[in-house]
Amino acid sequence: MVKKDDPVMISRSWRTALLALSLGGMGLACESEEPFPTLDELDQLRSLHSLSSHPRLDSTNRVDGLEAARTLGNELFRDPGLSRCGSVSCESCHTGEGRTVETPTAEGCGGQRTERNPPTVLNVRHNRWFMWDGRADSLWSQAILPLTNPVEMDSDAEVVRARLQAQDSYRSRYLALFGADPGAEPGPELMANVGKVLAAYERDLMRVEAPFDVDVRRFLAAVDAGTAESDPAYLGLKTFVRKGQCIVCHKGPSLTDELFHNVGLQDKGPGAGGQWAVLQSLLDWEFNAAGRYSDDRSGADARRLNTLRTQAKQEELEGAFRTPSLRNVALTAPYMHTGAQATLEEVVDFYNEGGDADGTFTGKRTVSIVALELTDAEKRALVELLKSLTGTPR
Ligand code: HEC
Ligand code: HEC
Repeated sequence: MVKKDDPVMISRSWRTALLALSLGGMGLACESEEPFPTLDELDQLRSLHSLSSHPRLDSTNRVDGLEAARTLGNELFRDPGLSRCGSVSCESCHTGEGRTVETPTAEGCGGQRTERNPPTVLNVRHNRWFMWDGRADSLWSQAILPLTNPVEMDSDAEVVRARLQAQDSYRSRYLALFGADPGAEPGPELMANVGKVLAAYERDLMRVEAPFDVDVRRFLAAVDAGTAESDPAYLGLKTFVRKGQCIVCHKGPSLTDELFHNVGLQDKGPGAGGQWAVLQSLLDWEFNAAGRYSDDRSGADARRLNTLRTQAKQEELEGAFRTPSLRNVALTAPYMHTGAQATLEEVVDFYNEGGDADGTFTGKRTVSIVALELTDAEKRALVELLKSLTGTPR
């Protein structure tokens, strides 16, 4: 059974509605089109603006929000001494204004390349899932993955421990935060705690309020005033919501549904299986938010993971990747999990064509990704909208 709030169903009914409209309106040209926005569309638009610059504290991380953790995390984020090769830090791949790299993949220890495009760490505290395939469910556990990945920092608890021991200021601050000397801490505990300190730093990497927010608020006022059509944001918002169907997945103040979809993007690499391929390992992972290193004992995260376990369907999750937030997207080229698209114009062309050819990716393309037949003006308006999402640094 398909749930009522399933994005696929929403988009299907939309297509049917549009089809009915265009059939019913044959010969009447554009007069048949409903004025934008309808009440449903207005509701969607209202959800889009004003992302909070103060996300909730992460209950699975007991040092989240502590200034001492933030400043230590800031130093560790930049410290290549946490890598086995001694030359790669978190910042190596999450750098510059966009907090990512400008190439499709990034370079780790020994000149090795990552498999995927590094996402930005801006606003990352708002994420529900981490990594393109969602194989981490908390920001602190995510940090353990690049630390221990052989092509990234190639590290482990002993390398990390040695680094913390070598610097008195690291050692004393770790002791103050966690009540144990890094030298005496069991390896997994040490890695989880270093992840928690890094996450405490990352939660402050925010760029929220953007020209887009101003546009949406002004547009909503124009709708009330009956002047929507003459608003400069009209075509961009209308295309984003109606003809482009972008809002089916890119919704809410972060412009993401925090779900996973197969948009039909060419990928023949070993990680092409998307969320389906990593689901079991996340459920079994000792560092997941329901596990023993989580500081949340309420069981809420265990229940959420259980929902994932029981609801996950192979046909939906095979080759499916996380819907990324579109905030600050102009700063984070190239795009998609493969970094295949160099510009926002190319991304819009990708959607306009209904994705890449069948047979070039794993799994089944979700039904809402179809050729859009956008006009040049509509494509330009979408690119403008995407460019207006660059926020002000906090
Ligand atoms: C060699 C490059 C490299 C290094 C070093 C690196 N990252 Fe990343 N980072 C990536 C790539 C590539 C991804 C996406 C991986 C994937 O989805 O499979 C990523 C993903 C992330 C994400 C998830 C963002 C999201 O939206 O899902 C966060 C957070 C992050 N990295 C933080 C860190 C931290 C903290 C460190 C240091 C401990 C670090 N990174 C080190 C390349 C790197
Ligand atoms: C079915 C859900 C869905 C729809 C509809 C959708 N997207 Fe996406 N979007 C995604 C997913 C999932 C990704 C990541 C895909 C991947 O890398 O495999 C993505 C990636 C992107 C990116 C790249 C962001 C980055 O950081 O790399 C942009 C830009 C984007 N979408 C814009 C749009 C626009 C504009 C539209 C409407 C024309 C749209 N999307 C429609 C789900 C969707």
